[in-house]
Amino acid sequence: MDRLIVRGGRALEGTVDIAGAKNAALPLIAASLLSEQPLTLANVPAVTDVTTLLSLMESYGVGVSRDAAHQVTLDAGSAINAEAHYDVVRRARATILVLGPLLARFGAARVSLPGGCAIGARPIDLHLKALIALGAEVTVDGGYIVARAPNGLKGSRIVLSSPSVGATATAMMAATRARGETEILNAAREPEIADLAAGLSAMGARIEGAGTHRIMLSGDQPFRRATHELIPDRIEAGTYAAAAAITGGRLELIGARLEHLSAECQVLETAGVRIFPTDRGLMVERTGKLSAVDITTEPFPGFHTDLQAQFMAMMSIAEGAALVRETIFENRFMHVPELMRLGADLTLQGTTVLVRGVSRLRGAPVMATDLRASVCLILAGLVAEGETVVNRVYHLDRGYEDLARKLVRCGADIVRVQG
Ligand code: EPZ
Repeated sequence: MDRLIVRGGRALEGTVDIAGAKNAALPLIAASLLSEQPLTLANVPAVTDVTTLLSLMESYGVGVSRDAAHQVTLDAGSAINAEAHYDVVRRARATILVLGPLLARFGAARVSLPGGCAIGARPIDLHLKALIALGAEVTVDGGYIVARAPNGLKGSRIVLSSPSVGATATAMMAATRARGETEILNAAREPEIADLAAGLSAMGARIEGAGTHRIMLSGDQPFRRATHELIPDRIEAGTYAAAAAITGGRLELIGARLEHLSAECQVLETAGVRIFPTDRGLMVERTGKLSAVDITTEPFPGFHTDLQAQFMAMMSIAEGAALVRETIFENRFMHVPELMRLGADLTLQGTTVLVRGVSRLRGAPVMATDLRASVCLILAGLVAEGETVVNRVYHLDRGYEDLARKLVRCGADIVRVQG
Protein backbone atom coordinates (compact mmCIF):
# COMPACT_ATOMS: atom_id res chain seq x y z
CA MET A 1 0.00 0.00 0.00
CA ASP A 2 1.43 3.38 -1.01
CA ARG A 3 2.01 6.11 1.51
CA LEU A 4 2.72 9.80 1.30
CA ILE A 5 5.46 11.52 3.24
CA VAL A 6 4.72 15.19 3.81
CA ARG A 7 7.25 17.61 5.28
CA GLY A 8 5.42 20.68 6.48
CA GLY A 9 6.26 24.34 6.66
CA ARG A 10 6.07 25.66 3.10
CA ALA A 11 3.53 28.24 1.93
CA LEU A 12 2.05 27.05 -1.35
CA GLU A 13 2.24 29.29 -4.36
CA GLY A 14 1.24 28.75 -7.97
CA THR A 15 -1.60 27.47 -10.10
CA VAL A 16 -3.65 24.30 -9.85
CA ASP A 17 -5.70 22.88 -12.72
CA ILE A 18 -9.01 21.74 -11.30
CA ALA A 19 -10.13 18.44 -12.81
CA GLY A 20 -13.65 17.55 -13.89
CA ALA A 21 -16.03 16.66 -11.07
CA LYS A 22 -15.90 13.03 -9.97
CA ASN A 23 -19.42 13.24 -8.59
CA ALA A 24 -20.71 14.61 -11.90
CA ALA A 25 -18.80 11.99 -13.91
CA LEU A 26 -20.16 8.98 -12.01
CA PRO A 27 -23.91 9.47 -12.63
CA LEU A 28 -23.32 10.41 -16.25
CA ILE A 29 -21.22 7.31 -16.86
CA ALA A 30 -24.10 5.25 -15.42
CA ALA A 31 -26.58 7.27 -17.50
CA SER A 32 -24.87 6.10 -20.70
CA LEU A 33 -26.69 2.78 -20.14
CA LEU A 34 -30.00 4.51 -20.85
CA SER A 35 -29.23 5.18 -24.48
CA GLU A 36 -28.52 3.09 -27.57
CA GLN A 37 -26.50 6.05 -28.86
CA PRO A 38 -22.91 6.88 -27.82
CA LEU A 39 -22.24 9.44 -25.11
CA THR A 40 -18.96 11.31 -25.07
CA LEU A 41 -17.92 12.87 -21.79
CA ALA A 42 -15.19 15.50 -21.71
CA ASN A 43 -13.24 16.62 -18.63
CA VAL A 44 -13.47 13.17 -17.02
CA PRO A 45 -11.11 13.03 -14.02
CA ALA A 46 -8.48 10.28 -13.86
CA VAL A 47 -9.51 8.88 -10.47
CA THR A 48 -10.10 5.29 -9.43
CA ASP A 49 -13.83 5.65 -8.63
CA VAL A 50 -14.26 6.53 -12.31
CA THR A 51 -12.09 3.61 -13.44
CA THR A 52 -14.09 1.21 -11.28
CA LEU A 53 -17.38 2.37 -12.76
CA LEU A 54 -15.97 2.24 -16.30
CA SER A 55 -14.96 -1.40 -15.79
CA LEU A 56 -18.45 -2.15 -14.51
CA MET A 57 -19.78 -0.55 -17.72
CA GLU A 58 -17.57 -2.87 -19.77
CA SER A 59 -19.04 -5.84 -17.95
CA TYR A 60 -22.42 -4.72 -19.34
CA GLY A 61 -21.02 -4.76 -22.86
CA VAL A 62 -20.72 -0.98 -23.03
CA GLY A 63 -17.94 0.08 -25.40
CA VAL A 64 -15.62 2.36 -23.43
CA SER A 65 -12.99 4.31 -25.34
CA ARG A 66 -10.63 7.00 -24.15
CA ASP A 67 -10.56 9.35 -27.14
CA ALA A 68 -8.15 11.81 -25.59
CA ALA A 69 -6.87 12.74 -22.17
CA HIS A 70 -9.95 13.17 -20.01
CA GLN A 71 -12.40 12.29 -22.78
CA VAL A 72 -14.34 9.06 -22.70
CA THR A 73 -16.93 7.72 -25.12
CA LEU A 74 -19.45 5.19 -23.84
CA ASP A 75 -21.40 3.20 -26.38
CA ALA A 76 -24.20 1.19 -24.79
CA GLY A 77 -25.78 0.32 -28.17
CA SER A 78 -25.33 -3.39 -27.57
CA ALA A 79 -25.33 -3.37 -23.78
CA ILE A 80 -26.56 -6.44 -21.95
CA ASN A 81 -28.26 -6.72 -18.61
CA ALA A 82 -26.09 -8.39 -15.98
CA GLU A 83 -25.59 -8.48 -12.28
CA ALA A 84 -23.59 -5.81 -10.41
CA HIS A 85 -21.56 -7.95 -8.00
CA TYR A 86 -20.82 -7.05 -4.40
CA ASP A 87 -17.06 -6.99 -4.99
CA VAL A 88 -17.49 -4.16 -7.53
CA VAL A 89 -20.23 -2.29 -5.65
CA ARG A 90 -18.27 -2.33 -2.42
CA ARG A 91 -15.23 -0.78 -4.15
CA ALA A 92 -17.20 2.30 -5.19
CA ARG A 93 -20.65 2.86 -3.75
CA ALA A 94 -21.59 5.05 -6.70
CA THR A 95 -21.99 1.84 -8.72
CA ILE A 96 -25.50 1.77 -7.20
CA LEU A 97 -26.23 4.45 -9.82
CA VAL A 98 -26.53 1.72 -12.48
CA LEU A 99 -29.72 0.43 -10.87
CA GLY A 100 -32.08 3.07 -12.30
CA PRO A 101 -30.66 3.05 -15.84
CA LEU A 102 -30.57 -0.79 -16.08
CA LEU A 103 -34.14 -1.08 -14.85
CA ALA A 104 -35.36 1.67 -17.17
CA ARG A 105 -33.61 0.23 -20.21
CA PHE A 106 -34.11 -3.51 -19.69
CA GLY A 107 -37.17 -3.70 -17.43
CA ALA A 108 -35.13 -5.54 -14.78
CA ALA A 109 -31.97 -5.11 -12.75
CA ARG A 110 -30.02 -7.02 -10.13
CA VAL A 111 -27.49 -4.96 -8.20
CA SER A 112 -25.71 -5.83 -4.96
CA LEU A 113 -26.73 -3.86 -1.88
CA PRO A 114 -23.79 -1.58 -1.22
CA GLY A 115 -23.59 -1.99 2.57
CA GLY A 116 -22.18 0.64 4.91
CA CYS A 117 -18.90 2.47 4.57
CA ALA A 118 -16.49 4.42 6.74
CA ILE A 119 -18.61 7.58 6.81
CA GLY A 120 -21.91 5.94 7.74
CA ALA A 121 -24.61 3.35 7.02
CA ARG A 122 -25.61 5.08 3.78
CA PRO A 123 -28.93 3.37 3.10
CA ILE A 124 -30.45 3.43 -0.38
CA ASP A 125 -34.12 3.35 0.61
CA LEU A 126 -34.82 6.64 -1.16
CA HIS A 127 -33.44 5.31 -4.45
CA LEU A 128 -35.73 2.29 -4.15
CA LYS A 129 -38.78 4.36 -3.17
CA ALA A 130 -38.24 6.56 -6.22
CA LEU A 131 -38.17 3.49 -8.49
CA ILE A 132 -41.25 2.05 -6.79
CA ALA A 133 -43.05 5.37 -7.37
CA LEU A 134 -42.23 4.90 -11.08
CA GLY A 135 -43.96 1.50 -11.01
CA ALA A 136 -41.09 -0.89 -10.25
CA GLU A 137 -41.38 -3.93 -8.03
CA VAL A 138 -38.36 -4.11 -5.77
CA THR A 139 -37.24 -6.97 -3.53
CA VAL A 140 -34.03 -7.83 -1.78
CA ASP A 141 -32.71 -11.32 -2.39
CA GLY A 142 -29.46 -12.69 -0.97
CA GLY A 143 -27.91 -9.24 -0.58
CA TYR A 144 -29.03 -8.14 -4.03
CA ILE A 145 -31.64 -5.57 -5.00
CA VAL A 146 -33.91 -7.11 -7.58
CA ALA A 147 -35.98 -4.53 -9.43
CA ARG A 148 -38.54 -5.35 -12.10
CA ALA A 149 -40.76 -3.33 -14.40
CA PRO A 150 -41.72 -5.82 -17.14
CA ASN A 151 -44.12 -3.35 -18.76
CA GLY A 152 -41.79 -0.39 -18.42
CA LEU A 153 -41.75 2.47 -15.95
CA LYS A 154 -44.51 5.04 -15.75
CA GLY A 155 -43.99 8.75 -15.02
CA SER A 156 -45.13 9.80 -11.59
CA ARG A 157 -44.72 12.24 -8.71
CA ILE A 158 -41.76 11.36 -6.50
CA VAL A 159 -41.50 13.09 -3.15
CA LEU A 160 -38.11 12.55 -1.55
CA SER A 161 -38.25 12.65 2.24
CA SER A 162 -34.77 14.21 2.19
CA PRO A 163 -32.90 15.76 -0.75
CA SER A 164 -30.54 12.84 -1.39
CA VAL A 165 -28.13 13.48 -4.26
CA GLY A 166 -27.97 9.84 -5.30
CA ALA A 167 -31.72 9.23 -5.07
CA THR A 168 -32.39 12.37 -7.13
CA ALA A 169 -29.97 11.07 -9.78
CA THR A 170 -31.58 7.60 -9.76
CA ALA A 171 -35.06 9.12 -10.12
CA MET A 172 -33.99 11.43 -12.94
CA MET A 173 -32.22 8.73 -14.93
CA ALA A 174 -35.05 6.22 -14.58
CA ALA A 175 -37.70 8.84 -15.44
CA THR A 176 -36.05 9.62 -18.79
CA ARG A 177 -37.30 6.24 -20.07
CA ALA A 178 -40.63 6.21 -18.19
CA ARG A 179 -43.88 6.86 -20.07
CA GLY A 180 -45.25 10.35 -19.41
CA GLU A 181 -44.30 13.11 -17.00
CA THR A 182 -42.35 12.78 -13.75
CA GLU A 183 -42.15 15.39 -11.03
CA ILE A 184 -39.41 15.06 -8.38
CA LEU A 185 -40.09 17.09 -5.26
CA ASN A 186 -37.55 17.93 -2.55
CA ALA A 187 -34.87 17.12 -5.13
CA ALA A 188 -31.20 17.70 -4.38
CA ARG A 189 -30.02 21.06 -5.73
CA GLU A 190 -26.32 20.19 -6.04
CA PRO A 191 -24.43 21.46 -9.12
CA GLU A 192 -23.72 17.79 -9.99
CA ILE A 193 -27.48 17.24 -10.33
CA ALA A 194 -27.74 20.26 -12.64
CA ASP A 195 -24.82 18.79 -14.61
CA LEU A 196 -26.54 15.40 -14.83
CA ALA A 197 -29.61 17.19 -16.20
CA ALA A 198 -27.44 19.01 -18.76
CA GLY A 199 -25.86 15.70 -19.86
CA LEU A 200 -29.22 13.91 -20.04
CA SER A 201 -30.68 16.84 -22.00
CA ALA A 202 -27.79 16.63 -24.49
CA MET A 203 -28.72 12.92 -24.85
CA GLY A 204 -32.28 13.92 -25.74
CA ALA A 205 -34.13 13.98 -22.40
CA ARG A 206 -36.52 16.81 -21.57
CA ILE A 207 -35.84 18.15 -18.08
CA GLU A 208 -36.70 21.37 -16.29
CA GLY A 209 -35.92 22.68 -12.85
CA ALA A 210 -32.63 20.83 -12.13
CA GLY A 211 -30.79 22.86 -9.50
CA THR A 212 -34.10 23.61 -7.74
CA HIS A 213 -36.19 21.51 -5.37
CA ARG A 214 -38.65 20.61 -8.16
CA ILE A 215 -37.48 18.76 -11.24
CA MET A 216 -39.87 17.95 -14.11
CA LEU A 217 -39.10 15.35 -16.77
CA SER A 218 -40.97 14.30 -19.89
CA GLY A 219 -40.14 10.63 -20.34
CA ASP A 220 -39.56 8.41 -23.32
CA GLN A 221 -37.98 10.97 -25.61
CA PRO A 222 -35.73 9.51 -28.31
CA PHE A 223 -32.06 9.44 -27.33
CA ARG A 224 -29.38 10.80 -29.64
CA ARG A 225 -25.61 10.77 -29.84
CA ALA A 226 -24.31 13.35 -27.39
CA THR A 227 -21.24 15.09 -26.04
CA HIS A 228 -21.12 16.72 -22.65
CA GLU A 229 -18.35 18.49 -20.77
CA LEU A 230 -18.39 17.89 -17.03
CA ILE A 231 -18.28 20.76 -14.55
CA PRO A 232 -15.09 21.37 -12.58
CA ASP A 233 -14.75 19.50 -9.29
CA ARG A 234 -15.82 21.93 -6.58
CA ILE A 235 -14.53 19.65 -3.83
CA GLU A 236 -11.09 19.49 -5.40
CA ALA A 237 -11.19 23.30 -5.76
CA GLY A 238 -12.32 23.72 -2.14
CA THR A 239 -9.53 21.38 -1.01
CA TYR A 240 -6.84 23.46 -2.74
CA ALA A 241 -8.45 26.63 -1.39
CA ALA A 242 -8.00 25.12 2.08
CA ALA A 243 -4.38 24.24 1.16
CA ALA A 244 -3.65 27.88 0.28
CA ALA A 245 -5.38 29.02 3.46
CA ILE A 246 -3.74 26.56 5.85
CA THR A 247 -0.20 27.21 4.54
CA GLY A 248 -0.61 30.99 4.29
CA GLY A 249 -0.02 30.75 0.55
CA ARG A 250 -1.48 31.95 -2.72
CA LEU A 251 -3.04 29.60 -5.27
CA GLU A 252 -4.92 30.27 -8.48
CA LEU A 253 -7.45 27.50 -9.02
CA ILE A 254 -7.86 27.21 -12.76
CA GLY A 255 -11.45 26.40 -13.72
CA ALA A 256 -12.91 26.78 -10.20
CA ARG A 257 -16.28 28.53 -9.98
CA LEU A 258 -17.31 30.85 -7.19
CA GLU A 259 -21.00 29.98 -7.54
CA HIS A 260 -20.21 26.35 -6.65
CA LEU A 261 -18.38 27.32 -3.47
CA SER A 262 -20.24 30.28 -2.03
CA ALA A 263 -20.79 28.87 1.48
CA GLU A 264 -17.17 27.66 1.67
CA CYS A 265 -15.79 30.99 0.38
CA GLN A 266 -17.82 32.81 3.00
CA VAL A 267 -16.17 30.69 5.71
CA LEU A 268 -12.74 31.34 4.20
CA GLU A 269 -13.31 35.09 4.04
CA THR A 270 -14.53 35.21 7.64
CA ALA A 271 -11.42 33.24 8.59
CA GLY A 272 -9.22 35.93 7.00
CA VAL A 273 -8.58 34.43 3.55
CA ARG A 274 -8.90 36.56 0.39
CA ILE A 275 -10.75 35.02 -2.56
CA PHE A 276 -11.47 36.66 -5.84
CA PRO A 277 -12.39 35.50 -9.34
CA THR A 278 -9.74 35.74 -12.05
CA ASP A 279 -10.33 35.27 -15.77
CA ARG A 280 -9.20 31.64 -15.38
CA GLY A 281 -10.82 30.67 -12.08
CA LEU A 282 -10.36 31.71 -8.48
CA MET A 283 -7.46 33.20 -6.56
CA VAL A 284 -7.13 32.22 -2.92
CA GLU A 285 -4.56 33.84 -0.64
CA ARG A 286 -3.82 34.35 3.00
CA THR A 287 -1.30 36.84 4.30
CA GLY A 288 -2.62 37.55 7.80
CA LYS A 289 -3.74 35.32 10.63
CA LEU A 290 -6.36 32.61 10.35
CA SER A 291 -9.40 33.02 12.62
CA ALA A 292 -11.68 30.22 13.80
CA VAL A 293 -15.14 30.05 12.16
CA ASP A 294 -18.02 27.71 13.03
CA ILE A 295 -19.15 25.33 10.29
CA THR A 296 -22.34 23.32 9.83
CA THR A 297 -22.59 20.97 6.86
CA GLU A 298 -25.78 21.17 4.83
CA PRO A 299 -27.11 20.22 1.42
CA PHE A 300 -26.18 22.65 -1.38
CA PRO A 301 -26.02 25.66 -1.26
CA GLY A 302 -24.91 25.10 2.34
CA PHE A 303 -21.42 24.14 3.43
CA HIS A 304 -20.47 20.83 1.77
CA THR A 305 -19.91 17.72 3.91
CA ASP A 306 -17.15 16.71 1.46
CA LEU A 307 -15.12 19.74 2.65
CA GLN A 308 -15.75 19.38 6.37
CA ALA A 309 -12.58 17.40 7.12
CA GLN A 310 -10.33 19.76 5.12
CA PHE A 311 -11.76 22.84 6.84
CA MET A 312 -11.40 21.18 10.23
CA ALA A 313 -7.67 20.74 9.53
CA MET A 314 -7.58 24.47 8.76
CA MET A 315 -9.48 25.44 11.91
CA SER A 316 -7.13 23.34 14.01
CA ILE A 317 -4.39 25.99 13.55
CA ALA A 318 -6.69 29.04 13.55
CA GLU A 319 -6.85 31.58 16.37
CA GLY A 320 -9.78 30.88 18.68
CA ALA A 321 -12.25 28.01 18.83
CA ALA A 322 -14.70 26.72 16.21
CA LEU A 323 -17.61 24.30 16.31
CA VAL A 324 -17.80 21.92 13.36
CA ARG A 325 -21.18 20.25 13.04
CA GLU A 326 -21.86 17.39 10.61
CA THR A 327 -25.50 16.96 9.61
CA ILE A 328 -25.25 14.82 6.44
CA PHE A 329 -23.37 11.66 7.47
CA GLU A 330 -23.52 10.21 10.97
CA ASN A 331 -19.93 9.01 11.10
CA ARG A 332 -17.86 11.50 9.17
CA PHE A 333 -15.33 12.24 11.90
CA MET A 334 -12.85 9.42 11.31
CA HIS A 335 -10.16 12.07 10.75
CA VAL A 336 -10.60 13.47 14.28
CA PRO A 337 -8.35 10.99 16.14
CA GLU A 338 -5.80 11.19 13.33
CA LEU A 339 -5.68 15.00 13.45
CA MET A 340 -5.25 14.71 17.22
CA ARG A 341 -2.18 12.55 16.63
CA LEU A 342 -0.73 15.61 14.86
CA GLY A 343 -1.44 17.76 17.91
CA ALA A 344 -4.87 19.22 17.03
CA ASP A 345 -7.01 20.06 20.07
CA LEU A 346 -10.37 18.48 19.20
CA THR A 347 -13.30 17.39 21.36
CA LEU A 348 -15.85 15.18 19.66
CA GLN A 349 -19.33 15.07 21.07
CA GLY A 350 -22.02 13.40 18.99
CA THR A 351 -22.23 15.22 15.68
CA THR A 352 -20.12 18.20 16.76
CA VAL A 353 -16.42 18.76 17.15
CA LEU A 354 -15.04 21.61 19.19
CA VAL A 355 -11.81 22.72 17.57
CA ARG A 356 -9.52 24.82 19.74
CA GLY A 357 -6.84 26.32 17.54
CA VAL A 358 -3.26 25.42 18.42
CA SER A 359 -0.16 27.37 17.41
CA ARG A 360 1.47 24.40 15.72
CA LEU A 361 0.98 20.81 14.63
CA ARG A 362 3.67 18.15 14.73
CA GLY A 363 4.23 15.45 12.12
CA ALA A 364 3.36 11.82 12.95
CA PRO A 365 2.31 8.65 11.14
CA VAL A 366 -1.43 8.76 10.46
CA MET A 367 -3.97 6.54 8.75
CA ALA A 368 -6.28 7.60 5.95
CA THR A 369 -9.77 6.18 6.50
CA ASP A 370 -11.79 7.64 3.64
CA LEU A 371 -11.31 9.95 0.70
CA ARG A 372 -11.83 13.33 2.36
CA ALA A 373 -10.25 12.23 5.66
CA SER A 374 -7.06 11.34 3.76
CA VAL A 375 -6.76 14.72 2.14
CA CYS A 376 -7.40 16.54 5.41
CA LEU A 377 -4.39 14.75 6.91
CA ILE A 378 -2.27 15.88 4.00
CA LEU A 379 -3.40 19.48 4.52
CA ALA A 380 -2.51 19.21 8.20
CA GLY A 381 0.84 17.66 7.23
CA LEU A 382 1.59 20.69 5.03
CA VAL A 383 1.79 22.88 8.14
CA ALA A 384 2.96 20.34 10.70
CA GLU A 385 6.56 20.52 11.90
CA GLY A 386 8.60 17.58 10.67
CA GLU A 387 7.34 14.56 8.81
CA THR A 388 3.78 13.32 8.47
CA VAL A 389 3.37 9.87 6.95
CA VAL A 390 -0.11 9.26 5.54
CA ASN A 391 -0.78 5.56 5.10
CA ARG A 392 -3.45 3.95 2.88
CA VAL A 393 -3.44 6.67 0.26
CA TYR A 394 -5.45 4.52 -2.13
CA HIS A 395 -8.41 6.33 -0.59
CA LEU A 396 -7.04 9.56 -2.09
CA ASP A 397 -6.69 8.08 -5.56
CA ARG A 398 -10.44 7.41 -5.57
CA GLY A 399 -11.20 11.11 -5.91
CA TYR A 400 -8.12 13.28 -6.41
CA GLU A 401 -6.28 13.29 -9.70
CA ASP A 402 -2.54 13.67 -9.22
CA LEU A 403 -2.83 15.29 -5.80
CA ALA A 404 0.80 14.93 -4.71
CA ARG A 405 2.15 16.19 -8.02
CA LYS A 406 -0.21 19.18 -8.08
CA LEU A 407 0.87 20.14 -4.55
CA VAL A 408 4.57 19.64 -5.28
CA ARG A 409 4.27 21.95 -8.29
CA CYS A 410 3.12 24.67 -5.88
CA GLY A 411 6.07 24.17 -3.55
CA ALA A 412 4.92 21.39 -1.19
CA ASP A 413 7.41 18.81 0.02
CA ILE A 414 5.59 15.52 -0.59
CA VAL A 415 6.92 12.16 -1.67
CA ARG A 416 4.85 9.13 -2.59
CA VAL A 417 6.41 5.89 -1.50
CA GLN A 418 5.26 2.66 -3.07
CA GLY A 419 4.44 -0.54 -1.30
C1 EPZ B 1 -23.21 12.01 -2.79
O1 EPZ B 1 -23.39 10.80 -2.07
C2 EPZ B 1 -21.73 12.13 -3.05
N1 EPZ B 1 -21.31 10.98 -3.83
C3 EPZ B 1 -20.99 12.22 -1.74
O2 EPZ B 1 -19.62 12.42 -2.02
C4 EPZ B 1 -21.51 13.41 -0.95
O3 EPZ B 1 -20.88 13.45 0.31
C5 EPZ B 1 -23.02 13.30 -0.78
O4 EPZ B 1 -23.65 13.16 -2.07
C6 EPZ B 1 -23.65 14.51 -0.08
O5 EPZ B 1 -23.41 15.68 -0.83
C7 EPZ B 1 -21.51 10.96 -5.14
O6 EPZ B 1 -22.05 11.88 -5.74
C8 EPZ B 1 -21.01 9.79 -5.88
P1 EPZ B 1 -26.90 11.44 -0.38
P2 EPZ B 1 -24.85 10.19 -1.90
O7 EPZ B 1 -27.76 10.41 -0.97
O8 EPZ B 1 -25.62 10.41 -3.13
C9 EPZ B 1 -28.94 9.53 3.48
C10 EPZ B 1 -17.28 12.10 -1.70
O9 EPZ B 1 -16.46 12.25 -0.75
N2 EPZ B 1 -29.66 8.66 2.54
O10 EPZ B 1 -27.21 12.88 -0.67
O11 EPZ B 1 -24.68 8.82 -1.39
C11 EPZ B 1 -27.44 9.20 3.49
O12 EPZ B 1 -27.16 8.08 4.31
C12 EPZ B 1 -18.64 11.55 -1.44
O13 EPZ B 1 -17.02 12.37 -2.89
C13 EPZ B 1 -30.67 7.85 3.00
O14 EPZ B 1 -30.98 7.83 4.20
O15 EPZ B 1 -25.38 11.14 -0.73
C14 EPZ B 1 -26.85 10.48 3.98
O16 EPZ B 1 -26.93 10.53 5.39
C15 EPZ B 1 -18.85 10.74 -0.26
N3 EPZ B 1 -31.32 7.04 2.10
C16 EPZ B 1 -27.77 11.55 3.38
O17 EPZ B 1 -28.99 10.87 3.05
C17 EPZ B 1 -31.01 7.04 0.78
O18 EPZ B 1 -31.64 6.28 0.02
C18 EPZ B 1 -27.24 12.22 2.12
O19 EPZ B 1 -26.84 11.23 1.18
C19 EPZ B 1 -29.99 7.88 0.31
C20 EPZ B 1 -29.32 8.70 1.21
